[in-house]
Amino acid sequence: MKRSLLWLITACLGSLSFAACTQQPGTFILSGDDDGDGEGAGTGTGGSGSGTTGSGSPTSGGGSNAQAMFESQVFPAIATDCGSCHATGDMGAPVFLASSPSASYTAITGYSPTLIAVPENSNLILHGVHTGPALTPTQEGVVSAWLQAEADERGLAGGGGDDPTPTGKTLDQALDEFANCMDLTEWEENMANLPRADTANAGECSGCHTSGDGGAFLSLNTQETFDMNKQFPYIKRLVTGTVNSNGAFADLLPSNRFINKGLEAQSCDPQTQNCHPVYNLPPGIKTGIETVVNNTLERWHNNQCP
Ligand code: HEC
Ligand code: HEC
Repeated sequence: MKRSLLWLITACLGSLSFAACTQQPGTFILSGDDDGDGEGAGTGTGGSGSGTTGSGSPTSGGGSNAQAMFESQVFPAIATDCGSCHATGDMGAPVFLASSPSASYTAITGYSPTLIAVPENSNLILHGVHTGPALTPTQEGVVSAWLQAEADERGLAGGGGDDPTPTGKTLDQALDEFANCMDLTEWEENMANLPRADTANAGECSGCHTSGDGGAFLSLNTQETFDMNKQFPYIKRLVTGTVNSNGAFADLLPSNRFINKGLEAQSCDPQTQNCHPVYNLPPGIKTGIETVVNNTLERWHNNQCP
């Protein structure tokens, strides 16, 4: 029996002006064998790839079930939406995909800092809208099932191996804790001016980011901006997470997105791509961001959060 999934892809790319952002419906058909055994995503054997079939244990040398899952399900699901930047480096994106399923598997499993961890610990799931789109719910389901299979197979924290490591705190939880540790007064004193910061030729941040477009929320309402930056995905513009070698959550670090965004090389072609306006934040605003992030991290590290 054949099964097909219809995905609506939301795209908001191709123009600097958010007024021009549109919802572009795109149709992708994923077919696979469906034997109706209800095992859900992740056990399919259809499609291309290295062809591990059935429910055998990981094969040595010639790939694994998780690898086969990536190549037959994950790659086709994200190649178009994510590969446009993450296979090419366009827009300054880090490269963790490639043009073929197997080269992409090599790239994504070799990427540092690693994305291979249970979904609750992986930045692949926990990045959301940024320069690129968020994963759609369907894509997120496919990617999550694969990450869980990798964790199982590699015996990572949260994986269901013979000797599962205790999961401990997750990146997901750490982001919530960081949010609860953010302080409105501290934000007002240090970051109230950020939305009004100027770019070289395209006006103030708030002119484009007043509703959170591009995953950056900077409106002229300080309380609202504070509240939104406590939430995912906006909080990722302040901090990001790392995992250690067994896939357990390791730490939160400043992501410096508000500072670095304006400084990054603008090597893209403005005719065809969405290039961000250049800016260099005034020292006071830069220090303000660092103060908010570092003080919050310090409270969080010292268990001094409310
Ligand atoms: C238009 C280009 C573009 C597209 C399309 C795009 N991204 Fe990105 N992505 C970037 C850029 C630029 C960065 C670096 C800045 C940042 O961290 O957000 C990035 C960073 C990331 C990171 C952070 C990597 C790390 O080391 O923590 C993840 C994860 C990510 N993208 C996932 C995705 C996924 C998943 C998709 C598809 C749903 C996608 N991206 C589509 C441009 C893009
Ligand atoms: C003319 C409109 C415009 C202005 C003005 C603007 N931005 Fe953006 N910004 C965008 C667009 C479009 C995106 C999504 C595409 C991209 O990342 O380039 C974005 C994305 C971002 C991101 C998230 C993506 C990443 O790489 O982390 C950050 C952070 C950001 N902007 C910061 C700022 C800051 C800070 C200012 C003010 C100093 C500013 N922007 C001014 C249009 C604008």
